[in-house]
Amino acid sequence: MPFTNPGGQLKVLIDERQLQQRVRELGQQISRDYQGKHLHLICILKGACIFLADLVRHLPLDISLDFMAVSSYANSLHTSGEVKIVKDLDSTIQGRDVMIVEDILDTGLTLDYLTRSLRTRGPKSLTICTLLSKPSRRIKEVQAAYVGFEIPDEFVVGYGLDFAERYRNLPAISVMIEDA
Ligand code: IMP
Ligand code: MG
Repeated sequence: MPFTNPGGQLKVLIDERQLQQRVRELGQQISRDYQGKHLHLICILKGACIFLADLVRHLPLDISLDFMAVSSYANSLHTSGEVKIVKDLDSTIQGRDVMIVEDILDTGLTLDYLTRSLRTRGPKSLTICTLLSKPSRRIKEVQAAYVGFEIPDEFVVGYGLDFAERYRNLPAISVMIEDA
């Protein structure tokens, strides 16, 4: 049964094979960089959950996980610039090597806010791993150490990313084309 989108059209931008290949590469790169260290990964819910689940299986490292939920904009194709921590971390990050795992770096407002907020908690190091990045949309400059794919300015869904909480279950990253 195909995935359907009654409100518009879906076009595959990054297919399952490309995703798995790139996630494996990112895992290898992170594993080299954090060899011999304990890595504490913070998954930004909900969008990054599928990426995180695949990524950690390519990390033969000593790791721990925590989850944070933020809302930057609700059910809209446009960002309001507002960031709210909806669910905070369970454990302290003080003195730890921390990596934020995010689905997409768009305007940068969310990760700019998050990194500034998390730095005040005294991690030993703090890096960002994002599956996707839309460089042309950037309002705040954010340094992501690991970027899966740079994509054009199009609204994407699937592999964890949603539109109004839908389409997270699509196996591929797809572009949403709104009906005129
Ligand atoms: P930023 O603060 O503008 O960088 O936006 C980051 C958040 O916006 C991401 O964590 C996503 O939840 C959401 N977002 C940005 N672009 C897209 C997209 O193309 N599809 C789905 N969600 C997006
Ligand atoms: Mg989202």
